[in-house]
Parts: sequence; C-alpha cells; structure tokens
Amino acid sequence: MIHKASAIAHPNIAFIKYWGLRDEENRLPANDSISMNIDGLTTRTSVEFDTSLQEDQLSLNGDEITGKSLSRVQKFMDRMRQLADIHLFAYITSENNFPTGAGVASSASGFAALALAGTAALGLDLSSEELSALARFGSGSASRSIPSGFVEWHTDPDTGESYAKSIAPADHWHLVDCIAIFSEDHKPVGSQAGMLLADTSPFQAARLQDSTRRLEICRSAILNKDFAALSAITELDSNMMHAVMMTSKPPLFYWQPGSLALMKAVKEWQSEGLEVTYTLDAGPNVHLICIPNTFDALIERVSAFPGVINVLHGKPGGPAKLVPNEDSGTSPN
Ligand code: DP6
Repeated sequence: MIHKASAIAHPNIAFIKYWGLRDEENRLPANDSISMNIDGLTTRTSVEFDTSLQEDQLSLNGDEITGKSLSRVQKFMDRMRQLADIHLFAYITSENNFPTGAGVASSASGFAALALAGTAALGLDLSSEELSALARFGSGSASRSIPSGFVEWHTDPDTGESYAKSIAPADHWHLVDCIAIFSEDHKPVGSQAGMLLADTSPFQAARLQDSTRRLEICRSAILNKDFAALSAITELDSNMMHAVMMTSKPPLFYWQPGSLALMKAVKEWQSEGLEVTYTLDAGPNVHLICIPNTFDALIERVSAFPGVINVLHGKPGGPAKLVPNEDSGTSPN
C-alpha cells in the first residue's frame, strides 16, 4: 500500500447533458452524455491514509469541511475502501485553482481527482474505464473528467456497465470555453437533488426519447469539427434540459435575467458571423464555446456584458492524472 497519492483533474462542460437517473442506487444516468474537459481549471487532491484517524477528514481550499459535503466524500471513500479491502481513514486535501464558489461546478473535477488519488493511495491500479465507473458514484459528471479531451459517457442498458471514454483527444479541436459568471452564490437546489425531479416534468420523456439522435449529431460534429452543427445541437440540448427543469414539480429556474440576455446576444453575434455557441448547467452562468479566431472579440463583448462579474476560460483539457505529492499542480496557467 502506498498510503499517500495526489491527482489533478479538470471540470468538464457537457454539450449533451446528463439530467435524470434511471437507477439511483447504481448511479445509472437516464441518458448518455458528451462533454469536453476544461484545461486551465484544475482541482488537485491528495489522499493520505493514517492508522491514527477515526474518520476521514476533508479540507477544501484550506477550509475544514463538515456536514453533508463531508458525508458525501466519506461515502465515496467507503466505496474505495471496500474495493481495496483496506479499512483505514484518510486526510483528504483538495484545492481548486479557480476562485472558490466561482459558480463553476467543482464536483466533477473533485470526485475525478479523488477517485484517482484515493485508489492509488490504496495501492489499486484501475484502468481509465474502471476509474470513470467509480467516479460516477461521487458525481455523475465526474465520470467524464477521467478520460482526456472530448468524452462520451455511455451506459449499457443490458449489463449496467456505465463509464466515460474519450472520443477525441484534447488537441483534436481548438475550441475555447469562455464562462460568463453571473453569480458566485451556491445554488439553492444542486444538480444531485434537482435531477431527481426530472421525471416529474412531462417533457423529460420526449427529451430522453430524442437523446440518441442528439448524441449522434454531437459526436459527428466533434469528429468532423463542424462548428455550425455542434452549435445547433448544443443550444438545443441545453434548452431542452432547462425546459425539463422549469417544468419539474416544483419547477427549477436556474437562469437569471442576465443569462437569458446573454443567450439572446449570442444569437445576434452569430448572425454577425461570430462562431460562438452557448450552454448552461444547473446554474445561471453561461458557457460560451467558440473557436480561437472568435476569442478576442468574444471576451471583449462578454466582459462588458451587463451583470457579468467574471469571465473564466479554458481550452479542451487532458485526463485526470497522478502528480507527485509535493507538486503544487494547481497554480493558474
Ligand atoms: C446540469 O454530475 O453534478 O451539469 O451525479 O448528482 O452529482 P450528480 O450530478 P452532477 O450533474 C451534472 C448535471 C449538469 C449536466 C452535465 O454536466 O451533464
């Protein structure tokens, strides 16, 4: 057993979203999804097992974490302990190089880095598929932060095998994700609770029924680097997920007025010839995906956009990877 290991992982942005579970206990998503890792935004996590500990301890960006967030991590640690048949507790230290509470979900990068560092510290050597399948129990989208670049999370409905695989490497297509931050507050209903309501929307069945078609279009748009096709399917998929959210019982409204204003501005910018598209997760912040030629013009417009308090950006990112324990891995680049 190694005792201590450290890993980094990037968050990801989904073009075809995961929203809803077909099997809550086994964390099987209602539909497959496709995403891109975001380079430059990085979570670094160290796991150190210690025979003197009575329970796992978690520090996140220097703060000691207790309550529900700690329990969620401890439950995930239990799963790894069971896999290794080693029943020790650990110090877990996690740091994001993007501003805390910046409105960028860190559960994907957080649980991907934790899965890799935790299993390595326990002396387990898992394949990328095994790690991805494990990470999804921490957070579904974490399964997509294990492989590199452009990623598809597929579930076999017969076997229940469910993990993400790279469909193209990070350097396949030089897209940029510019994230327009409207709010740094914690959202009142997180994805984990919100998606349990998906089936209460009359639109969810239609969304799921059409998902294979959207996945196919998205996959081939990525493989062919067809921005117009990617743009159309990404916006449709985001709008469909938010239509489900808004028509759930109770309804979930994640957008702010500024989010909608920016989506409408994107439609105008597109008609002027700017190659940019939008997508939103369970929050008000708008991910603007563009090509490098569009980047300067886009950043200028978005930074000046009413209500935008910060803009982060990153190109397609690599896989979760182990880093030396003393390496500081999270310094912004
Ligand atoms: C809207 O992966 O955060 O970002 O599995 O319950 O932890 P849990 O949910 P999570 O949900 C992500 C939802 C989304 C869409 C997506 O990233 O696919």
